[in-house]
Amino acid sequence: MKTKRLLMGENKEKSIKTAAEILNNGGVVAMPTETVYGLAASAYDSSAIEKVFIAKGRPQDNPLIVHIADYETLKEIACNIPQKALECATVFWPGPFTMVLKRTQRIAPCVAGGLDTVAVRMPNNDIALSLIKESGLALAAPSANSSGKPSPTTAHHVLADLDGKIDAVIMGERSGVGVESTVVSFVCEKPRLLRPGAVTLEQLKEIIPEIEVDKAVLSSPKEGEKVSSPGMKYKHYAPKCELYLVEADISDFAKFVNEKNDGVALCFSEEKEHICTQSIVYGSKENPESLAYTLFDILRELDLKGIERGYVHAPEKSGVGLAVYNRLIRACGYKVIKL
Ligand code: TXA
Ligand code: MG
Repeated sequence: MKTKRLLMGENKEKSIKTAAEILNNGGVVAMPTETVYGLAASAYDSSAIEKVFIAKGRPQDNPLIVHIADYETLKEIACNIPQKALECATVFWPGPFTMVLKRTQRIAPCVAGGLDTVAVRMPNNDIALSLIKESGLALAAPSANSSGKPSPTTAHHVLADLDGKIDAVIMGERSGVGVESTVVSFVCEKPRLLRPGAVTLEQLKEIIPEIEVDKAVLSSPKEGEKVSSPGMKYKHYAPKCELYLVEADISDFAKFVNEKNDGVALCFSEEKEHICTQSIVYGSKENPESLAYTLFDILRELDLKGIERGYVHAPEKSGVGLAVYNRLIRACGYKVIKL
């Protein structure tokens, strides 16, 4: 199939209309969101959802996030919504925050990957919101990468993975956040952080002090272990390059990579000048948002450049740093070096 490029700028309105038509006819369209690009299909149409799983090569038991633009739709697709969940939505929506809730029968069952729950979010991106409204649908949208590849933060990343496999791509801007949304489950005994993102654990604790952190956030799931979020058991974000996550302070990291001298150092801007081997700055230690913004782009770049080995300086596990750390341990296949 030929993948249509839907342009923005003066073509924006026409492009959004075309995308909405494709979605209403059971097609799939990649759309920008503030976190990463998503591969959207109607959450009400099983055969459209089927196409999303096929295009991505995604395991069928890994459920999709449903994107909405208003609270009426939330009440149509989810039920028994706890008060705390609504409070969080009021504070964090539209934004990089996803809630797992009990679901109604309204969405196609394959969206939920066989579970009786649904993950829902209202994205903070005017193109995504306009498309949801124009289509009149709720849009199931996983990240628009091939399964196992780093999530796409530009339309070009989407095309690199999915050109010829999907109906269209909206050629929007680069995603401002750079890592996927924070996922919180409200169907466990206590609210539970399943995936950290730009809405931080510290922010969540202000509203839900009792929140628990799922152990898969910071460690490798054991063989055959039941996980709360099916996505966490798959190897994610993995570049071909063999990566190691290095927990160290600034001077120790430079010393370590200088001595090793056998790969690329993914480092902070603050330490670049101390590193004598090949290095790539992925942001500032003091500003974890900057690390999130460039992370997936750099993971793709490593493979494009044919780099075989890399040492990544681990961020602090606080604020957005927790999300960056969570993506990195997966990208490194859980190979962590503590200095
Ligand atoms: O920022 C984002 O969330 C992006 C953009 C496109 O919105 N989407 C995204 O979707 O990251 P995806 O499919 O790549 O990740 C969804 C995650 C997976 O780990 C999945 O297992 C989990 O959410 N998830 C979805 N539905 C769930 C459910 N009902 N219960 C538990 N986990 C669920
Ligand atoms: Mg994904």
